[in-house]
Amino acid sequence: MVIERTPLEDELGDVLDKAIRHAGLSEAVVAVRAGVPESRLRDAIDYRSDLTEAELDRLAAVLGLGKAGLRMLASGRYPLPEILGLPFCLFPLRLQHGIGVANAYLVADCSSDRGLLFDTGPSGVALRRVWPSRLRHVEAVFITHAETEHVGGLEDVRVAQRNPPIFAPSGSGVVGATQMSDGARLEFAGFTVTVLSTPGHAEAHHSYLVRSTYAPTGTGLLLSGDLLFAGSIGGGFFCPNRLRASIDRLVGSLPPETVVAPGHGPLTTLGNERAYNPFLAVGGKGN
Ligand SMILES: [Fe+2]
Repeated sequence: MVIERTPLEDELGDVLDKAIRHAGLSEAVVAVRAGVPESRLRDAIDYRSDLTEAELDRLAAVLGLGKAGLRMLASGRYPLPEILGLPFCLFPLRLQHGIGVANAYLVADCSSDRGLLFDTGPSGVALRRVWPSRLRHVEAVFITHAETEHVGGLEDVRVAQRNPPIFAPSGSGVVGATQMSDGARLEFAGFTVTVLSTPGHAEAHHSYLVRSTYAPTGTGLLLSGDLLFAGSIGGGFFCPNRLRASIDRLVGSLPPETVVAPGHGPLTTLGNERAYNPFLAVGGKGN
């Protein structure tokens, strides 16, 4: 079991800001529609919220967000699940990048020193700082999307691990990588990795579903890159609508116990996000 202490990637202010951008509205329009003074909405976006629950509820209604999840974010009580039941070892690598933290992940059989690496963080230096000493060999590297904070360490990994196979989304431009498309399945080191094309944050963006070949019906692991976070979603820089469609596809097709390992912030499960994530849990319990 893993109990996470990693902070959420997005606070209330970030969620309001993303929701306003994704809706294509101005802060002024949202403030009027929600009956909230614009200055108070701006303060909330700048992490100085003193919005009342009634104001939060009206903002949620205007922006199509889940009320319960938004209230929990505002009060600092967004729930995270216990991470149970993965039939293999998962090593979250938290990598400092400027003022932020980007995640990479190692997945391995718990009795093995060989594993798979998902994303590489911003640099080899950052990776080496947190690399678990017992994981000596990387059998393959999978890239979710080609932003520096997620691929900056790739060249170091390539050298240190003597050219492991690298897989990246078609059109991502990752040099030396095999370009993969939706639905492809690969087997390495006792794992099956299924490629899921999930555009939205970037046009060339993959999520990866990992299962143990020895426990094919066991809990799966979803490496979600910058698509879905605990309590929030990625920025829709390529297309907010495609981002939502990509999330809906995963939430609609994978079991709720699926563990989600995002590109930023703590681990979660699809079921937890379906229940509480303000971008997903609209009209549900408590809303
Ligand atoms: Fe990112």
